[in-house]
Formats: sequence, C-alpha cells, structure tokens
Amino acid sequence: MGQYIVFDGMDGSGKGTQMKLLQERFGATAVFTREPGGTPFAEEIRRVVRDNPLAATSTGLNNFLLFWAAREELQQNLVAPALQAERHVFSDRGDSSTYAFQLWGEQHRELLGLFKLLRYFVFEKSRERRAPDLYIIFDLHPRIARERVMADSAREQNHFDMRDLEYYQRVREGFHSFASQWPAVFLDATRPPAEVHQDVLDLLASRGIVP
Ligand code: TYD
Repeated sequence: MGQYIVFDGMDGSGKGTQMKLLQERFGATAVFTREPGGTPFAEEIRRVVRDNPLAATSTGLNNFLLFWAAREELQQNLVAPALQAERHVFSDRGDSSTYAFQLWGEQHRELLGLFKLLRYFVFEKSRERRAPDLYIIFDLHPRIARERVMADSAREQNHFDMRDLEYYQRVREGFHSFASQWPAVFLDATRPPAEVHQDVLDLLASRGIVP
C-alpha cells in the first residue's frame, strides 16, 4: 500500500534540498508533488495565493481557503489516484503549512475549527481519500534559518527582517502544536544535508518505504 508523506519546515530549513535528494534516490518509483500546486489547476491557485501581491491585500480567511482549495484539487486529481495505484506520495508541504503559517504565523487561531472541518472533508470524508500518514518536519531555530536565507544569494534578500523573525518563531511553535495532534517527526535541520538525508532514508525504511 502506498504511503502519503509530507515534508515541511520553514524557509531556510533545507527542505527543498532534502526533497531533491529524495527524488534522486526514488526517481519515478514514487510520486513527488508540492503545495500549493501539483496539478494544473492547483498551480493556477498557487499563482494567485503565492505569487500575486493582491493576495496580501485579501483577508486571512481568504488565503486560508485558497490553500485548502489547492489542496482539495491535489487530493482529487493526484494524491488519491496515486495511493489507490499503491504508489508512495511525497509532498513538499501540506496542511501542516496552513496550520503553522496561517493559524500561528499570521495569528488566525480562530480558524482552528474550520481547519479541522476542512481536514475532515478533504482527507477523511470519502473512502478514496486519506490523510497524510506522516509529516516530516525539518526543524531549526529561526535565527539560523534567517542566516541561511540571507547567505543564499539566489534568494530574494531583505525580506527576513526582525518582524519576520518573530513570525517564524510563531511558525515554528505552530509546527510543534501541529505535531501534538497529528503524526509528525522532527528532524534537526541544523546538521549537514547528507546527515539529514540519511535520517530521512532511515525513517522511511523503518516504515517499509525503500527506493
Ligand atoms: P515556496 O517558495 O514554495 O516555499 P518553499 O520553497 O520554502 O516551500 O512558497 C510556498 C510558501 O507558501 C511558503 O512561504 C509557505 C507558504 N504556505 C502557506 O503559507 N500555507 C500553506 O498552506 C502552504 C502549503 C504554503
């Protein structure tokens, strides 16, 4: 049976590098996707919610709903069919991001009830659907994440100011709160990428997931 594994963490956690290393290992034997996105329509929603500056002028509720809209689309057209075909699905981000960023980072904790309701409808309501089996969260102090982002010349600079540090501290707390309610494992992301990658492979192997 295929398993659904979500990889998550804050910017600078090295999550992208880890996804790339994993993809090199597993190749086409597993399905790799991302949120928001992963299907043509969900990628359109990604352009609206992530890339269009107008999204920043909208409400917290609206952004929250757009992330869930992209997720519903992804489940229907990619994740559920892949799991039914007994393939493993590895996703770069998932509902753990909505929980950490929208509820905690952006301080919309009033959306918790709606979060749980949408989780039920999107992941559990129909027999074809399934909630992620495991969330692997790449964890590190926001200050170190910030240093990494600043040192990466390919990335946009200067958007990680002091307010962002507090924001990402809340995001980190959000991931910990998420992990107290849903199945998650934290990996120390301050270590060298190869070491973290080995941990990921060991963790997956312990669940019977091998390339
Ligand atoms: P992206 O550039 O893909 O970030 P990364 O490479 O670090 O994954 O942009 C995704 C952004 O969207 C990221 O800042 C986190 C945010 N996000 C949310 O705020 N809520 C969500 O539900 C998801 C899936 C992502």
